[in-house]
Amino acid sequence: MCYLVLLNVCTSWSPTSWQSRPAVQLPTYRSQEALERVVEELSKLPPLVTQWEVDSLKAQLAEAARGERFLLQGGDCAESFDDCNAATITNKLKILLQMSLVLVHGSKKRVIRVGRIAGQYAKPRSDDFETRNGVTLPSYRGDICNRPEFTAEAREPDPELLLRGYERAALTLNYIRALTKGGFADLHHPEYWDLDFVRHSPLAEEFHRMSETIGEALRFMENILGVRPQEIERVDFFTSHEGLHLYYEQAQTRRASHCKGGWYNLSCHFPWIGMRTADPDGAHVEYFRGISNPIAVKIGKNTTPDVLLRILDVLHPDNEPGRLTLIHRFGCSAIADYLPRLIETVRRSGKTVLWCCDAMHGNTRVASNGLKTRRFDEILGELEQAFDIHAACGSYLGGVHIELTGDNVTECMGGARGLTEDDLQRAYKSQVDPRLNYEQALEMAMLIARKMSRLT
Ligand code: PEP
Ligand code: CO
Repeated sequence: MCYLVLLNVCTSWSPTSWQSRPAVQLPTYRSQEALERVVEELSKLPPLVTQWEVDSLKAQLAEAARGERFLLQGGDCAESFDDCNAATITNKLKILLQMSLVLVHGSKKRVIRVGRIAGQYAKPRSDDFETRNGVTLPSYRGDICNRPEFTAEAREPDPELLLRGYERAALTLNYIRALTKGGFADLHHPEYWDLDFVRHSPLAEEFHRMSETIGEALRFMENILGVRPQEIERVDFFTSHEGLHLYYEQAQTRRASHCKGGWYNLSCHFPWIGMRTADPDGAHVEYFRGISNPIAVKIGKNTTPDVLLRILDVLHPDNEPGRLTLIHRFGCSAIADYLPRLIETVRRSGKTVLWCCDAMHGNTRVASNGLKTRRFDEILGELEQAFDIHAACGSYLGGVHIELTGDNVTECMGGARGLTEDDLQRAYKSQVDPRLNYEQALEMAMLIARKMSRLT
């Protein structure tokens, strides 16, 4: 094993070196030549983010790993090209801003906001093929690979979609930047962040009380203490996606312009490795080891202590602050059995990571009507246990990872309105995993905040 580790660390890296490793979860294209043409074109287009933004996020994540900040990472399971419109983007930004305000209130810490947005277009699938009524076609792998309709034409992977994905990501990010740089995300005016139906929500009053308290604290600092805290007038917002489609990631990997050298993935600030592609010897880990971004890895029931140690060796060799986030996702009934030994493994390695809890992906179930769903109480149950287990092990849970939307969908059950299986059909829009809707997401943030305020 030591030999393999050495091999990993010593082998030279390039943005294409992943191609010599086994690469799972990539679509099979009919023409390699067409794919390479697209990758070439994509690699000449301007980056979506800058290395300075990426470094600034890394510094903030380092503070979160030390218990000084809290990470809120959330958004769709998969973005769709059709959802690249003003209303959907604004609503997603609003709910994430509202949740972050609630978490600031509960944790008394600064919150790092990261969207699963502007590039979350590729999905891992359990099966390469899907069969319906005796017809078998390639599985839908996200809008950047193929299309969801069940026809041979739609399911054929098309490399041009990589360019369409880059363009949609750029349009999305452009709008997010305009909103967050302008008055929209000013902490003095959280009322701008209200979604239309907030008034009808059972939680509206509690949320408004919280935002009032924050407004008063700001006015107190400014009027009584005479400080105008520049940096809290406007909020930072960062982007992330699963770095699954390695051709897309490779094409947007650029050399650093500072003297330290290195490479950055400039398609987003904070890419992560999904559960199904976290093999330490696989192509995805090989790609991620060479980029300077802060990165995250999903870990779960199948992650043994040995595998985790290898991941730490390969992806976090220098223990650089802010470099590695571990996102654990076990499920509400499994977390207590699996998490403590992984916390212990990291402690034994002597390395510091940021711990984040994804309370969605271990809690997926199929409802009796066949729809994929999740229960609010199980998601909350996993989160509450995560806080307690980390505290009991002398560790710090520094973030949460949530699949959500700013729209009024009915994909997850439970929450203040008590959505049941019968409600799911009403507004089930996801092509992949079920998301918390606007009210459920806000309620979840309030309950997390309540839990955190009891811990501090
Ligand atoms: C996801 O985040 O949508 C996902 C597929 O998660 P995981 O890799 O943890 O299964
Ligand atoms: Co998902």
